[in-house]
Amino acid sequence: MSDTLTPAAEPAVTGTYQQSGTFLHSSAGAHADKLMPVLDKYPVSAADVALRLPPNRALNPSCFYPETTPTVVQRMNLDDDLADHLARQLRCQAVIQESFAEASIGNYFPLSTMFENCVLFIPSAKRFYDLNQDIVYDHFPEVETAVVNAFVVTANKRSYGTHAASGIALQIPSLVKKQLGFPTEYRSFHTALTPTPLDRQPFVIFEEAEVEAPNLQFVYEKMLEYGLDAAEKAAVDKALYLFLEGKLSEIDLPTVRDFLMAKYWSKRYAETPSPGYYCDSRVGDALVFDNYRAHGDGTLPSSPKDRLTIDFRCFNKVHYPPGMTGGLDFIVDPDERNYQIRRKRASLEFLLATLGYENIDEFLRLVFGSRHNENINPFGLMTDLQFGVYNKSEYHLLDQNLDDHYERVERVYEQIEKDGEFVLPSHAKAMLDALYSEGPAV
Ligand SMILES: [Fe+2]
Repeated sequence: MSDTLTPAAEPAVTGTYQQSGTFLHSSAGAHADKLMPVLDKYPVSAADVALRLPPNRALNPSCFYPETTPTVVQRMNLDDDLADHLARQLRCQAVIQESFAEASIGNYFPLSTMFENCVLFIPSAKRFYDLNQDIVYDHFPEVETAVVNAFVVTANKRSYGTHAASGIALQIPSLVKKQLGFPTEYRSFHTALTPTPLDRQPFVIFEEAEVEAPNLQFVYEKMLEYGLDAAEKAAVDKALYLFLEGKLSEIDLPTVRDFLMAKYWSKRYAETPSPGYYCDSRVGDALVFDNYRAHGDGTLPSSPKDRLTIDFRCFNKVHYPPGMTGGLDFIVDPDERNYQIRRKRASLEFLLATLGYENIDEFLRLVFGSRHNENINPFGLMTDLQFGVYNKSEYHLLDQNLDDHYERVERVYEQIEKDGEFVLPSHAKAMLDALYSEGPAV
């Protein structure tokens, strides 16, 4: 059974949904402030910035407006045993992530042990995936690809701030117009593995704000209309310039994009506050929501306990322009494209090194046997939201037998529990340093 999240005009009727007491403009504004230091990594010339932006050069704004569905609560198939396994594995992967957590200001980045990469780190995620396919289909019959995304908001830390789904194709007006290269329907099943009262960093959704997926040129122009002070203008100018000129590393790009989106909401809703809602969930309750809707709140008080979540991200079938199969094909320059494939491979190789693999081939051999030398594109192993890889390939890891891999993961986690800590293996540390020293994409 499911309940519709009640908008403010008709205050929460069941007690299940409640206002968080926070608002989109202030939560997003705080998030923008938190992300802004990422810009300091990129020195720029004010003259170069000005030359790329209006009035010297016109922008090309676009915005996709999804058909909206209200957020609902759904009970998922999750028994106590599975919930316990997921919780334990999530805590162990968080220990691994913390050993290199200073790597990013944002939290969605290629070296995360969570999001798409959790298929490598959370053995029970696959069982959860298998147990809940019918529920996903009931809510979202158009589903083509569903991926598991498990993550932890560590005790005494804030959850990631206000954001919404985006993707490379949504930045390109000609593709937005034809609805190519991105899911037109995008649903999440955000399932609590720990209870989420207001003092435990609950998931917050801004149910009444307009659901839209603008490109950054669109939000930039809107912000100029709403009004920016000199310091704000300098920051958004620089951010858009870095983005448009391709000067951001793939590690920082989502952070800069989220900075501009958060700043946009902080301006757009300043005069018309849009309340946040949360659900005081039991373990196994999912919020089923449209991922294009603004969500997440890093301004609630931190919690003395971890918040554990497992989420399905579900897309309808994504269509691409002729001859293209993923967002990576939108990168015209073959050198840049190959560079990103090398970086993806290196990122995965680093993550696998944290689990004790010598290299990615060792992993591919374990999972794919004799098929490992089929020249597997690393982007085929899992979806990649940043590069717009949505439709699963024949190598999609969630559809493989990962038992042998998970045995290895289990051994690493037993060691973490025994030692009470995780030390990054030296060859993994060397890979991490190499990834960061290579700098931004050119
Ligand atoms: Fe999200």
